[in-house]
Amino acid sequence: MNYQWYPGHMTKAKRMMQENIKLVDLIIELVDARIPFSSRNPDIDELGKNKARIVLLNKSDLADPICNKQWISFFQGQGAHVLELNAKSGAGIKAVSGLVQEACREKLERDRRRGIVNRPVRAMVVGIPNVGKSTFINSFAGKACAKTGNKPGVTKGKQWIRLNKNLELLDTPGILWPKFEDRRVGMKLAFIGSINDDIMIMDELACDLIAVLQEKYPRELCERYGIELKEKPVMMLADIAESRKCYMKGDTLDLEKAAAILVDDFRAGRLGRITLEQP
Ligand code: G4P
Repeated sequence: MNYQWYPGHMTKAKRMMQENIKLVDLIIELVDARIPFSSRNPDIDELGKNKARIVLLNKSDLADPICNKQWISFFQGQGAHVLELNAKSGAGIKAVSGLVQEACREKLERDRRRGIVNRPVRAMVVGIPNVGKSTFINSFAGKACAKTGNKPGVTKGKQWIRLNKNLELLDTPGILWPKFEDRRVGMKLAFIGSINDDIMIMDELACDLIAVLQEKYPRELCERYGIELKEKPVMMLADIAESRKCYMKGDTLDLEKAAAILVDDFRAGRLGRITLEQP
C-alpha cells in the first residue's frame, strides 16, 4: 500500500509556523513516544534554530517504558530538554514548568544582563496532527489560565494564555506535517492513526502491522489472541479472525473485521506498551 496524505497542506502549515515562531522564545515539541522519529518533522530543527527547545514524549503510557528512557537519552544527547508525558492523564505535566525554566535559563540570564526583568517567556506548542497538542495545552494551562488577548506588537488575532508571571503560551498550536519520503514512516503513522483510515486498505495495514510485531513484539501479539507465530502475516491475520470469530456469510473469514480489531487494540494499548522505533 502507498501511504500518502495531504501533501497540499504542508506548505501552508509551514508558512504559518514560520510566522508564529518569530513571536516565541521557546518551542515545545510533542512527539509520539511510540514513534518518536516518524512523528516529528525535521524542518522544526531549521525553523526553531536559535530558540530554546523542549521535546515532550507524549502518549508515553502507550509506549515501551524501556524505549521511553532510551529516547530521552537520545534527545538529551541532541541538546534538547526532554520529558515523558501522558497529556491525557496529566502524568508528567507538573515537571514541565521546571523544564521550561531550565530550557530558557540562557535567555532569562541574557534578559537580566540587559536590564530586562519580568518579561515572561513566550512559548509555542508544535507537533503533527493527533499527537496530543490540544490535550497538552488544556492540561498544562489548566483552569487557572487567562487569555491575555491581543497585545501591541503582536500579530493581530494571536491569543496568548498566561500560565503564570513567567510564561505565556500561544493558544493555537503549530501543526507540522511528518515527512513521507520513506514508506516506513507513512506506515507507522498509519498504525498509530495519524493517517485517515478511510484511505487505508485495512487488511493490508494490519498485515504490515503484524509483520512489525512479529519481529519486535511477537509474544504480545500471540498472547493477546491466543495464536501461534507464523511466517506469513496474512496467516496470522486469519488466525486472529478465527480467534475473534470474525466470519462473513458462508463461514468465510472476515479479514477486514479482524484487521480493524487488531489495529484498534494496538492503538488503544491493549496489546501492551509498544514502541515501534528505537533511537
Ligand atoms: P492534537 O491537538 O495534536 O491534534 O491532538 P489531541 O490533543 O486532539 O489528541 C488526540 C488524541 O490523543 C485524543 O484522543 C487524546 O485524548 C489522545 N491523547 C493525547 N495525549 C495522550 C496521552 O498522553 N496518552 C493517551 N493514551 N492518549 C492521549 P481522542 O480519541 O481523539 O479523544 P478521547 O477519546 O481521548 O477523548
